[in-house]
Formats: sequence, structure tokens, C-alpha cells
Amino acid sequence: MKDCLTVALPKGRLGEQVYARFAAAGYPCPGLTGDSRRLIFETEDGALRYFWSKPSDVGAYVERGAADLGVAGRDILLEYRPAVYELQDLGLGLCRMAVAAKRGFRDDRRRTLRVATKFSRIARDYYASLGRDIDVIHLNGSIELAPILDLSDVIVDIVETGTTLKENELEVVETILPISARLIANKAGYAFHKRRIDALAAALAFDSEE
Ligand code: PRP
Repeated sequence: MKDCLTVALPKGRLGEQVYARFAAAGYPCPGLTGDSRRLIFETEDGALRYFWSKPSDVGAYVERGAADLGVAGRDILLEYRPAVYELQDLGLGLCRMAVAAKRGFRDDRRRTLRVATKFSRIARDYYASLGRDIDVIHLNGSIELAPILDLSDVIVDIVETGTTLKENELEVVETILPISARLIANKAGYAFHKRRIDALAAALAFDSEE
């Protein structure tokens, strides 16, 4: 169907919770959770079509209108700053962005602080607000390795249960901000499909499973 709304969902644990919310809101699409190699899945009534995206790419699809809607963590939105409307906090994927270090770490403010992170912009903004000089070491995963191997003094990363830190003898030094998943919309697409998107957002706000 030509007039369906296209939705970018973040791959992974968060995406599964987000899809469950869409399904409960009346937009199920069983094929989406199967093990098919298809990339794009349409609901039976043709109202929506979904695709899985790397979480950090959701904003790019929505900003440029390849997707009308998407779901992205606040971490991704603050890091990549896509020019999109943030319509709603879905209350899913709750975690926090935090500074962590080896247990007992004390910051020596005479030295530039080495910060390893996937979230360079968030780290820079945070330490700029404190007036603290840092050297950002941009990594793409397993950030916890950096302080253990003395690649960095601290990390700026997502903490959910805290298990990864604990198992690696690291601890939170400071919480930077709370994170949750947000429903985002392409600006032009929102103006064009306002009624349908508002109805969808209202349905998503109610989760019959909760
Ligand atoms: C994220 C994050 C931490 C972990 C935190 O990693 O970077 O490593 O989850 O979760 P926890 O507090 O519940 O242990 P992710 O699984 O996304 O993989 P990554 O190492 O590639 O970043």
C-alpha cells in the first residue's frame, strides 16, 4: 500500500520491546520477529511497514524521510542530533548514561582525563559543562575494556543493570543523564500525516501488557 507509514525500529533488545508495544497498540506484524532475511515488513492491513535498523542509524532514516517514524534512545538522539520531532517518551529501554572507572578511581585534575566512549559528543558536552579538559578515545563497543587495559581513565557509557561494570570491577563515578526510548518523526512527514501519526502515538502511550 502506497500510503502506509514507514517505521524504523532499533535492532536488539530494545527493538523487541518496542515492537511488542506497537503490536499491543494494534499494529502487529508477525513476520517481523521471524528469522526471515527480508528487510521490510508490512502489517496485514497495510497501515505500517517496519524495518530493523542499527540503533544509531534510526535518526538518519527519519531525518531524511526514508522512514516517517522511528524509535531511538535518548542517548542516540543526543549523540547524533538528527533534525526530527521527538513525539513521545515510550518509557522503554530505561537506563542511564554514566561515567565509570576502576574501583577507587580518583580524578587528578592536574592531568587531562582520558575518556573512552561510543558517545563522544555526550562526553565532550558533559565535561565542557564541568570545565574539565579531556582526551576522547572513540571506541565502538566493549568500552569497559578501556580502563582495565589502561587505555583510558574513565568511560562514558550506558549502564542498565550494572552487571557489566560489576563483573569487570568497575563502578559508576557519576550519572550524566537518564535514558529512555523516544518515538521520533520526520518533520515533513509529520505535517503531512499528522492525524494518523497522532493516533498512533496515542495508541503507543497505552501498553495493555503493563
Ligand atoms: C551496553 C553498554 C554496556 C552494557 C550495560 O553494551 O555499552 O556494556 O550494555 O548493561 P548492564 O549495565 O546491564 O550490564 P551493549 O550490550 O549494547 O554492547 P557494546 O559492548 O557493544 O556496547
